[in-house]
This record gives sequence, C-alpha cells and structure tokens, in this order.
Amino acid sequence: MANIIGARDALEPARDVLLAGGIVAIPTETVYGLAGDATNGDAVLRIFEAKGRPRFNPLIAHVSSIEMAEALARFDPLSRRLAEHFWPGPLTIVLPMVAGSPVHPLATAGLDTVALRAPRGFGRELIEALRRPLAAPSANSSGRISGTSAAAVAADLGARIPLIVDGGQTPVGLESTIIKVEPERIVLLRPGGLPVEEIEALSDRPVMRRHGGEIVAPGMLASHYAPDARVRLDVDAVRPDEALLAFGPYRVEGADRARAMLNLSETGDLREASRNLFAFLQQLDLAGAATIAVEPIPGHGLGEAINDRLSRAAAPRGAPHA
Ligand code: TXA
Ligand code: MG
Repeated sequence: MANIIGARDALEPARDVLLAGGIVAIPTETVYGLAGDATNGDAVLRIFEAKGRPRFNPLIAHVSSIEMAEALARFDPLSRRLAEHFWPGPLTIVLPMVAGSPVHPLATAGLDTVALRAPRGFGRELIEALRRPLAAPSANSSGRISGTSAAAVAADLGARIPLIVDGGQTPVGLESTIIKVEPERIVLLRPGGLPVEEIEALSDRPVMRRHGGEIVAPGMLASHYAPDARVRLDVDAVRPDEALLAFGPYRVEGADRARAMLNLSETGDLREASRNLFAFLQQLDLAGAATIAVEPIPGHGLGEAINDRLSRAAAPRGAPHA
C-alpha cells in the first residue's frame, strides 16, 4: 500500500522517488496528479501501467515557469500571453514541440505537440526542486473519476503506487482547461477549471468548441469519469430508487424519496459545485443506487466543464479511455 505523507513533509521524499524514476501522486490546484519525471521513459511507462491508460493517450508535461516551458515548446504570441496571465493555474496549452525536447516520446505518445501546464501549490514546489518537467495525468485508474483528495487516490491507486502526498482537498476540483491556439481561432480541447470566458476576455480570436465526432485528443470522448451507477442528466423528477445529485436552492419533484442526496451547492455557486463534483459522484455511487439523477446545472462559466464531465459520466460505457 502507498505511503501517505502530508505535503509539508513530502518535498524531499517525493523528489527522491522521482529522481529514482518512480511515480508519486501529488496534489495540484485542479485534481491530484500521478507524477513522474517526464524525461525518463521508465517513469512515464510506470504512469501508464499504474493507470491502465492506453499508450496512445499523451500526458501533460508540468513546468514551474514559462522559461522552463520554452525549453520544451515554441510559443506563439497569444499562447505566451495566456501563459503569462494564467500560469500558475488551471490552463493547459498544446504547443509545437521544439526539436530535441527532453520530454520522452512516450509521454507525448509520439506526437509533435506537447501539452504544457504550470500548476499551483505542491506540484509547483516539487518541479522547482527537481528542475525537470513532470508528466502527470489525473491520479485515477483509466476511465474512473479523477481523485480530488488523498483518500480518493489511495482507494483507487493505493495498491499500485509507493507514495501519495496529502495536500487536502484540491481547491478547483476539475481538471485544467486545455486549449490550442491556431491562427484564426482557439480550439477548446477540454473545458476545465479555467472558464472559457476568462480566456476569451484576453484573446483576439474566438474560442471554438468541438462538436462530437472528431477526436482531437485521444481520451477526450466517450465514456469517461465513470461511476458504477448509471447517470441521468437534467432530470425534472427523481424516479424510484434513484440517488440525487442536486444543485441550488430548489429541488426537483420526488427529491424527498431519493435513496441518497447530495447538493453540489445550496446557493448555486459553480465554484463550490466544481470542488464537490467528483467526491459527491463517488459518494452517491457508494450509496448503491443503480442510477444517479442529476439536476440541471447552468452551462456558463465553470458550468461548462461540470456539464462536460457529467455527460461523460452519463455516456454509454464502451471501451474506457484515460
Ligand atoms: O488538471 C489537469 O490537467 C490534471 C492535473 C494533474 O494537472 N491532469 C490531467 O491529465 O487531467 P490527464 O492526462 O488526465 O488529461 C490530459 C488530457 C488527455 O485527455 C490527453 O489526451 C490530452 O490532455 N493531451 C495531452 N497531450 C496532448 C496533445 N499534445 N494534444 C492534444 N491533447 C493532449
Ligand atoms: Mg484524466
């Protein structure tokens, strides 16, 4: 079983594991990451194995500064501006890789682009101490809900990793927003913890959402974030035996007979709802209902990412991805 150490005392032990090519679950402001030295092929392989993640699905390389990022990728002016403004923070930018990039090709799944993010908190300190980029997908087995607490990570991956750094509940609760800047537009590859409106406010071109069909990044479509229970969205009434994931001050019909109920935010605050989303899905799942009914959640701001994760949780279960 994994050793769990509080973030305050974990910098050295985590660094030692990483320098030896091992992997460590670490807190970031978004979700916990399963980190390894991005320049070490063995470490990257261990990440894929521990998650059961298909090798064709590339990993984000985490950096502690734009200078460090520039050793890995070529920034266009708008990508640089967005990095300057939002890093460290929940924004991942896909960029063309520089020739001779030290990031191992297994981490990028052989693509000629690399996804970069500078996280806040313990992850940032660790990268600074290591002075190497960290490959870190969300700390969950492939196809499962991302871990937002050390306990959730331990329950899912504890038997397969040596060390979990406990930084408490992650403040954002959703994975980073992933974008790619193109000459005429910004492509939104994954809505996440940075609302699209905030990116648009700083940009000279529109942000384009992807609409079904086209798989830009493997692992971004189909069933994902899957609890065991089925998930039914935008309900206007609770059916017998369902659990209810509620949002806001008003309840749908039949809420009083739900098998279990958790409210993402009584006041209708999307930040609070983001923080609670994954843990509440898991708790309702454990309550044993065959179906989790979800009340409507507005689509603006962080609501876009919340609805994205919920619709993946509700998607028909096929071959699981990342
Ligand atoms: O908040 C987050 O982003 C967390 C924390 C740990 O940083 N990480 C995370 O990683 O969510 P992961 O691996 O679960 O999701 C990263 C997504 C994957 O869907 C992958 O396909 C996509 O990023 N991705 C990685 N490299 C890419 C690239 N070069 N082009 C397009 N998509 C890429
Ligand atoms: Mg993930």
